[in-house]
Amino acid sequence: MKKYFLPFIVLTFFIQCKTTPQHKQGLVTDKAMVVSANPLASQVGAAIMKQGGNAIDAMVATHFALAVVYPQAGNIGGGGFMVYRDSTGKSIALDFREKAPLSASRDMYLDSLGNVIAGKSSVGIFSVGVPGSVAGMVEAHKKYGKLPFKKLIEPAITLAKGYKLTQKDANLFNEFRVRFEDNNRFKTIYQSKLNWKKGDEIKNPNLVKILERIAEQGNAGFYEGETAQLLVDEMQAHEGIMTLEDLKQYKAIWRKPITFDYKDLHIISMSPPSSGGITLAEIMKMIANYPLETYDFQSLKQIQVLVEAERRAYADRAEYLGDPDFVKIPVEALLAQEYLKKRMQSFSFDKASSSTEIGAGLEKLPHESMETTHYSIVDASGNAISVTTTLNSYFGSKVMVKGAGFFLNNEMDDFSAKPGVPNLYGLVGNEANSIAPEKRMLSSMTPTIVEKNDKLFMVVGTPGGSTIITSVLQTILNVSTYEMSMQEAVDAPRFHHQWLPDIIKVEPQAFSDDLIKKLEEKGYKIDNTNAPVIGKVDAILVLPNGKLEAGADSRGDDTGAGF
Ligand code: GLY
Repeated sequence: MKKYFLPFIVLTFFIQCKTTPQHKQGLVTDKAMVVSANPLASQVGAAIMKQGGNAIDAMVATHFALAVVYPQAGNIGGGGFMVYRDSTGKSIALDFREKAPLSASRDMYLDSLGNVIAGKSSVGIFSVGVPGSVAGMVEAHKKYGKLPFKKLIEPAITLAKGYKLTQKDANLFNEFRVRFEDNNRFKTIYQSKLNWKKGDEIKNPNLVKILERIAEQGNAGFYEGETAQLLVDEMQAHEGIMTLEDLKQYKAIWRKPITFDYKDLHIISMSPPSSGGITLAEIMKMIANYPLETYDFQSLKQIQVLVEAERRAYADRAEYLGDPDFVKIPVEALLAQEYLKKRMQSFSFDKASSSTEIGAGLEKLPHESMETTHYSIVDASGNAISVTTTLNSYFGSKVMVKGAGFFLNNEMDDFSAKPGVPNLYGLVGNEANSIAPEKRMLSSMTPTIVEKNDKLFMVVGTPGGSTIITSVLQTILNVSTYEMSMQEAVDAPRFHHQWLPDIIKVEPQAFSDDLIKKLEEKGYKIDNTNAPVIGKVDAILVLPNGKLEAGADSRGDDTGAGF
């Protein structure tokens, strides 16, 4: 093991935990595993595989369970992406990202003077995109599922009839009480108690009805009939713009994943409308030209190389990436070896580059809350799934559908409301990510699967908005370059740079005072006060003996379960 700061977070628990003198390992299982943000959801997914279900079945069951027990990000009112690699090595991606309603328009968040109206794209009914999660689960199951769809939703229905809160759940519901009050025309179930505590039971009878309808009718149980009407009633009560037609027209789309090599690894990640795969590929191909293995973990040189590659890749993200069904994305040009080599030529170890000078790099081509959740699954046959799903911020728009018990996303904020004006994550965008009817907003979600020697090696992903891509990057490097166990790799402190704002965001105790001083002397600006947590990575590593190791991020309630 190379020299690095030991994980700064004390690991609180695992369902099972094995420790060796050198490496702190997560749960190790023989054949199958789910790692998700909530222990109940992981157990649901593992139980489905124990009953003969495959990874897709476990995904559906885990997804709906998270929609109940992790309402801050698990969802039926949001969307996401799946990357799937089957046991023979074939891979495919599914896009169930939200999209703009039919009557959305480019300047819908601007006032008469052309200025962005604060908060309109990020909270309340106007921030809601057409949800994609239910269509995603139905579509994935139709193509690859083994057990009956209905059976996969049963555990979520049971949980919605009553489950016990963790301390973190209780704290979050208490913290968001006022925002629920401000954005709803009725008392949500989360306001039914003044002070939630660990172990309190929460029941969501309205969500039970919706889940039963989806279990019986599939897509029609959500996008048509009574559920769709409740959703549109909520829209109309707040003068929102989504219609029954918007819901009826929603479709999940199969996509070709982004694939690339990094040293001895082959990476399979999400393609547009997520920026995740392309941005990760740009960064990894830029850093591949440096002898990272000779730089210690989070040493000055390692941080500089990562930050400077991130700066350049995020500048390209802002300029070129958007929904591929609406804009032409120069994927090949962005990932060309020569281009990426040239892109790093302006970097010197002597001095930080400047984001104002960097800008987007391609010359001759046409321009065309932070809270999310991720789960990783491997089944007993070796099929692997990486899913990242979101409402965007915690509890999305904060608007719950009356009579339906679920929150609606605030994903419209992931569009660029006006070129150059930052969104919730401080990300800026351009025409490629401007709003248009039925367009999908650009995402940073990076569900990723890694192969080594043509075999499954790692399944990885995380929430964290714009920091998702760099958290996935660091987790892969922590294992492949710094020889950490999966659990150490997800627990290790993280840092992030995204071109603009031109700062290195760092978890509070990640960097020593001496390291910060050295970086500042080179001209880097450091912010280690603003991001108590960067990402909550949930990953699975295939060990040399074929067993599976969980990396369940100890920053949250994240847990591995399996057999
Ligand atoms: N809503 C966060 C993302 O998709 O990147």
